[in-house]
Amino acid sequence: MDVTVGKILFTEEQIRERAKALAKKINEDYKGESVYLVGTLRGALVWMADLMKELELNTEIDFIVASSYQGTDTTGVVTIKKDIEGDVSGKNVIIVEDIVDTGTTLFKLLDYFKGRGAKSVEICSMLNKPSRRRAPVSPKYNGFEIDDLFVIGYGLDYNQKFRNLPYVGVAELR
Ligand code: IMP
Ligand code: MG
Repeated sequence: MDVTVGKILFTEEQIRERAKALAKKINEDYKGESVYLVGTLRGALVWMADLMKELELNTEIDFIVASSYQGTDTTGVVTIKKDIEGDVSGKNVIIVEDIVDTGTTLFKLLDYFKGRGAKSVEICSMLNKPSRRRAPVSPKYNGFEIDDLFVIGYGLDYNQKFRNLPYVGVAELR
């Protein structure tokens, strides 16, 4: 199958503007505290870079690689392929995600970090597809809501390609 970029949904400027606005909220919400950002590789890389530069809090960063496949159970099975390297106990974890789709991955990750003693766990996602939700997850911080479209760019891939595009566009399959 051939894939090309169709309509551009969000430009770099628009995305950075949202990152800035959300970072401002985070700066207020966690005033006087530290945050521990956990980026989900590989998709969240670009969004996380935008977000962290706007934070004025004591900030640590870490990364996790999780993959999910939909089983018969509504929440599916999530495997952690690369764990975080630091200790989140007593910390304010913010999971930085590229896109919340079914919510399967994040549902498990929320539980995972709580189980490891995090003081708090929230989600900061660049994109959200609420119409696809299967697990009860809603990001406290969210860049943009989109319809049920497959999107690429700004970290998001189709078969590992297009992550480098400096905008989010709709994937056109032909
Ligand atoms: P969830 O567990 O179904 O919420 O899976 C979310 C993950 O699926 C995201 O972190 C992405 O890596 C991937 N994903 C979901 N929708 C898209 C899309 O439209 N484009 C690219 N990747 C997507
Ligand atoms: Mg992801």
